[in-house]
Amino acid sequence: MKFLVTGGAGFIGKWLIEKLPANAEVVVIDSLDAQVHRTSQDFSPELKARAKCIQVDVQDIERHREAVEGTDVVIHLASQTGTGQSMYEISRYVQHNANGTARLLELISSLEQKPQRIILSSSRAVYGDGAYTDGNRVYYPKGRRLEDLQKGIWEVCSENGEPLKPLPMEESHLPKPTSVYGLTKLWQEQLLQNYCENQGIDLVTLRFQNVYGPKQELGNPYTGIIGIFTNAIVQGNSLEVFEDGQMTRDFVFVEDVVDAVVRCATHQETLSAVINVGTGQAVTLLDVIHAIAELVDKSVNYTISGRFRVGDIRHAVADMSAYERLFGSWKPTPLKAGLAQYLEWYLGQKPLSPAVLQASLKEMERTGLLLTKQS
Ligand SMILES: NC(=O)c1ccc[n+]([C@@H]2O[C@H](COP(=O)([O-])OP(=O)(O)OC[C@H]3O[C@@H](n4cnc5c(N)ncnc54)[C@H](O)[C@@H]3O)[C@@H](O)[C@H]2O)c1
Repeated sequence: MKFLVTGGAGFIGKWLIEKLPANAEVVVIDSLDAQVHRTSQDFSPELKARAKCIQVDVQDIERHREAVEGTDVVIHLASQTGTGQSMYEISRYVQHNANGTARLLELISSLEQKPQRIILSSSRAVYGDGAYTDGNRVYYPKGRRLEDLQKGIWEVCSENGEPLKPLPMEESHLPKPTSVYGLTKLWQEQLLQNYCENQGIDLVTLRFQNVYGPKQELGNPYTGIIGIFTNAIVQGNSLEVFEDGQMTRDFVFVEDVVDAVVRCATHQETLSAVINVGTGQAVTLLDVIHAIAELVDKSVNYTISGRFRVGDIRHAVADMSAYERLFGSWKPTPLKAGLAQYLEWYLGQKPLSPAVLQASLKEMERTGLLLTKQS
């Protein structure tokens, strides 16, 4: 089999390449974006040993038609991934994520032999705030109102101000992104869906929750909240927690995510599915901070600042039933076990300088996207 992996030099890509069948031919295309690849502007020796690596923006993939010809499965990972950053670098996100996907499809349409399957790494960001209930009805909230956030009303409320209960995200839930990043991931989904339906290509859309694990770039201040928390805790710096620290996320270990991708990539029958990839367990950000501190045996010095990011969602957790219906039981790595592996790797790395993180927060302040609750 021949696999084309776009964005294959990134965090998830590095893990994926190692887990693809050993006898498969692999082509990686990656622009080696400077924001993600801060320390080296070359493909790693391990990647070069396993795959044919081509440094190119997916928007210019047409130049490499020969290398792509004969691909059986395309795994499309290439994306700009900073949710907060997408709210002010709008055209960059639209170009890389939406136009990049369009260019990839234009190249595929001109190939002599089309791939049998395309796998897209989409995101839980397409659900936005997701679905909520008051116990009777399901609601798709419009998104948290700025005036409520400014008053420190963090939870999603009904029209008459009652807090609602978040529901695990199901693939059938209405997509309602609250960020430009989420919108561009939804556009990727829709472009691929339209194209693959018309061409008879099996499309698998995987909606990842928050992926963490070793090899996630520490120098990129726009992604990877676990890296940001770990940096502050290990270096003994004070940590700012937004809102009240009670927002929840579903942190899924990178190896589990890659297992799900490989399972879909090598599945014998047609899948034609949208599938969540998370753990199904919601954890508060404060719980994650305490878990990291306990594992590194450090006390943690944090401030709940009451600041908030415009477009941020309050709660996210995956419903994994669709995955289980297709592939049987799903047993993801428990958070503490995944964090332990992450920390073992982290302690051998050069940490992110607090100045880099501060500069990214200043950027958000300057663009009016990081605000403070009014007392
Ligand atoms: N990491 C997560 O928590 C998470 C969650 C949900 C979805 N995803 C999705 O998974 C995919 C991989 O994410 P990741 O965490 O490995 O990100 P990453 O930033 O580590 O990797 C992305 C790779 O794509 C490359 N790239 C970016 N724009 C490109 C372009 N225009 N052309 C070619 N290459 C380009 C970058 O150089 C990088 O190597 C992305 O599509 C992302 O949207 C990730």
